Formats: sequence, structure tokens, C-alpha cells
Amino acid sequence: MSQTSSAATPPGRSAPWWRDAVIYQVYPRSFADADGDGMGDLPGITSRLQHLADLGVDALWLSPVYPSPQKDAGYDVADYRDVEPVFGTLADFDALAERAHALGLRVVVDIVPNHTSTEHAWFRAALAAGPGSPERSRYVFREGRGEHGEQPPNSWRSVFGGPAWTRVADGSWYLHLFDSSQPDLDWTNPEVDAEFRDVLRFWLRRGVDGFRIDVAHGLVKAEGLPEWDHEQALLDGADGADGPDGPDGADGSARRPPMWDQEGVHEVYRGWRRVLEEHPGERILVAEAWVSPPERLVRYLRSDEMHQAFNFDYLRAPWRAGDLRRVVDATLAAHDLVGAPSTWVLSNHDVVRHASRLGYPAGSEPASGVGPDDPQPDAALGLRRARAATTLMLGLPGGAYLYQGEELGLPEVTTLPAQVRQDPSFARTGGADRGRDGCRVPIPWSGEEPSYGFGPGSASWLPQPPSWRELSVAAQSGAEGSTLELYRRLLAVRREHGLGLGALRWVDLPGAGPDVLAFRNGDVLVVANLGAQPVAAPAGARALVASGELPGGALPTDTAAWFALPA
Ligand code: NOJ
Repeated sequence: MSQTSSAATPPGRSAPWWRDAVIYQVYPRSFADADGDGMGDLPGITSRLQHLADLGVDALWLSPVYPSPQKDAGYDVADYRDVEPVFGTLADFDALAERAHALGLRVVVDIVPNHTSTEHAWFRAALAAGPGSPERSRYVFREGRGEHGEQPPNSWRSVFGGPAWTRVADGSWYLHLFDSSQPDLDWTNPEVDAEFRDVLRFWLRRGVDGFRIDVAHGLVKAEGLPEWDHEQALLDGADGADGPDGPDGADGSARRPPMWDQEGVHEVYRGWRRVLEEHPGERILVAEAWVSPPERLVRYLRSDEMHQAFNFDYLRAPWRAGDLRRVVDATLAAHDLVGAPSTWVLSNHDVVRHASRLGYPAGSEPASGVGPDDPQPDAALGLRRARAATTLMLGLPGGAYLYQGEELGLPEVTTLPAQVRQDPSFARTGGADRGRDGCRVPIPWSGEEPSYGFGPGSASWLPQPPSWRELSVAAQSGAEGSTLELYRRLLAVRREHGLGLGALRWVDLPGAGPDVLAFRNGDVLVVANLGAQPVAAPAGARALVASGELPGGALPTDTAAWFALPA
């Protein structure tokens, strides 16, 4: 087992590393493939970690690499204490962590506690043991409705489409908020909690620096599993179609969806925090909780719970100055209530890459999945706005999350044919939901032919478009004006000026209208122009970095820049 300790805190720095960390998401299937089978793997990731160090991020978050039938790309876990052979071995994981720490990078792993795979030993045992057994009580088994129990126990829907219940051979039903291969665990069973605390200890002993908690708001369901016949969507999370708290109840009060954001989840994370505190170093818990408004989200960040939560309100904000400013203000105010750092994110493996999402008219950005027959994004507009959006984001105080490939300006692959799509949401909705494969295409590193250095040969589990040749790391490295060089510069200046630990103060720029966002963070002025007219840079300000050209010193439309202010 690896004995590597966490990367050391640099001398002179007192804030814990995670308060301003930029954390880079590695999606193992698609990052780098050492053995040439078309599927990324741990040795591939280790061989490419220098790229992350050169980019200037603080940590990587690794999406799941556990043994898994891969029905949901690894978010269907069959064993929480091992590595999927397709990705490598535990020794490969240890080598990755050791190399990362040697490069000064922290390692955050994914934990999936809401559900297991149907291939997990517990679920197999539950099926074998039969109704009413202790083995079944680790999951949410219920009898069906109707004369012969032929109707599901309630009307809940799966996030991936279709009913949230599947019937087993003896007639009982089990709950799965996601795919039928992902049975939900019953978190009222103390055995489940004990098991996960032990899993945390297993990885903490291996030297991980933190955990990203999948569906953190879903573990505990309302008692009695009350009816909820609304469509579910991954992106809707706690806020059903009718607004932040779901539809109004009969008495006019807002009713919280019975599967999301229930009070009982907080006790789970208090227990997990205590487990982390048994271990030396600054280890963290990060909530993947689709919870709105931010005052609800930050309840996960009280001082005895988690450290960070993804800011999906920011990710979902339309490309409009007013909307962005409202989200930024609401985020900062809510996080101040609990003393937690805010985080910011624009892309991940579940959403349309922001270089394409922002290529649609503001306010009509697609949430999940674009197919060949759908309206296509304006690629040039999308990239231009994406570069500006990232420049704006990395100027904000707090932590930030990047998703592999965004530093190359990679677009969503919208033209994937149906037969190569693997996301279960595509099949479960008969293709109505295009699914998330378009943001998961293996990334290009170098070369003229597929797989563009992803692996030693041409194999990649999803096809890469020919245009990715020009977008590879090698093609963009050292190229003036490339998106990769923009990210490197942003991260270097952000670090140099301590922007992540700074504070935001909005500024009224002379002559700038409501479509311009401008704020000071320490000694840096951040300006983003979302309007049609160019905006003059403030007199005497020196541009430190800009998302595009600044002709005559002015910011054209959809451009953001950071300026050093005269002393
Ligand atoms: C959220 C993950 O990010 C997503 O990829 C997964 O499908 C669901 N949780 C279910 O685990």
C-alpha cells in the first residue's frame, strides 16, 4: 500500500489548501489509455499528470475507478475497496497517488453512497436471501401495489427515465433513482453507514486527500416514501419543475421532493467528518448536491459537515450579466453564513461542455445532451464565450472545478450516432434524452490521426471528431492565443495574486452599461463584457490576461480580462 502523505502545505500559507483550490476533474475512461484497449486507465493518467502540474491546478478529482459493470460509466460500483481491471489495479492507484503528491497535486476520489451496482455482493445476497431478510434491508425493497402487487410501490421516476422501481423474480420491487442496475441503499440501516465509514477509512489510509460525494442530497428518503409523480432530472435535483422547492402542496406551502435534500442526510455527513478528523492532514468532503437555493446548499457546509459543494446554480446560469451577478451575490452571501468557501464550475461529465453550451442564444443553453438532429451550437461563439466565462470564473474568490479537456476549448461532440451512445439515459428514454456521451469523448494529446495520443493506437471508446487534431495538447502548447495557454496564464496569475483567497467588490466602470460585469478582487480588476458594444479598459490599468484581443485597449463583446490597477 502507498505510504505517500498528502502534498505539503507551502511555507507561509495558513489557509487550508481547499479554500481556494482549483480542482481538475479526471474522467478515467477518457483521459489517457496506456494499454491501447480504447478505454482510459490509471497508468495512462499517471503518465499524463505532468500536464496538470504544468496547467497549474492544485488537485485532481478522479471519477470512479471501482470494479463495476460500467452500466453507468462506473457510477455503478460492485466493490468499493478495489479497482476495476479495465482501469488497472490498487497498485496502479497507489502509483498514481504517489506521483500526484510528488508533483504537489492532491487527490480526491469519488464515493457513490446512494446506490451500488446490482453486481455488488450485498445486492446479490439480497436477491438470494428473499423478502424480509436482513440482506434485503440494506436496500429499499417494497411490495407492489395492485391486487397481485404488479404495480410499482409508488410513482417515483428514475432520473434516467422510466419508473424508479424494478420487480425481482419473487415479486418484490427495489428502488433505483437512477438505472435499474443501480439499486438505492437504505440509509436508515446502520449497517450501511458503518460500511461507508469503513470505506472512507480504507481510502484515507491509502493517502487520498478527499472525497467527492455522488448524489450527496439523495441518500435519505422521506419516511413512508410519499407519492411524487413529477419527472425527475439529474439537473433538477432538489428543485423539481415547479421551482426551487418543488410544486406547492395543497396548503400552498412548497413541498420538498421526498427523495432529495432530506434532513437525515446531514447526520450522515457529520459522522463522515468525524472519520476524516481521525486522520492527519487536511482531507475534504465535497458535495455533489443539486440543491437550490444556496441557503439550502450551504447547510451541507456547516462546520461539522462537508468542506465544499459544487455550485450548480453558477453552471446553469445563462450567459447574461444580470443572471451571473445574481448567482455570484447569492453564492457569496450564502457561503458567508456558514464560513465555507464558495466554489465555481462550468463543465463536468454530466453536462454539455460550456464551449458548446454557450454557443446557443443566452437563456436557451441546453442542459444535457445534444444529438445530430438537434439545433447545433455556434462553435465560434461558444468558444469565445467559454473563454470569457472561464476568465470570469477564475477571477472569483473561492475554489473552482475544471473538467478535463475544457483547457483545450473542447466542444461537446453533438454528432455521435445513436449506436455508439452508452449513457443509460439515452436508452431509458428511447433516445429522447440524448445523454451525456458528447462531453465524455476521449481527449486529444498529440498527433495527426485518431486517437490523437489518447492511446498508443487508434482505439477510443467513443469516436473523436477530426477537428480535434488542431485542439490537442501538443498543438496548443506554446501557441500564442490558444485556449490551453489562456488557462495556464489564468491559473498562474490567480495563484500569484491570491485571487482564490480574496474578496469581491463590484465596481461601476465609467461608460459601462448593465451588460458589463466588473469587480475588484485584491489588486486585480476583473471585467467581462457580455454586451454588444466594446467597453474601454479603465485608464492606467494594465491587462494581465484576456480571453481575446483587446483592440485599442477596449474589451469587445463576449470578452473578459484581468487588469492590474495602478498603485
Ligand atoms: C451523478 C454523477 O455525476 C453521474 O454521472 C451519475 O450518473 C449519477 N450521479 C448517478 O450516480
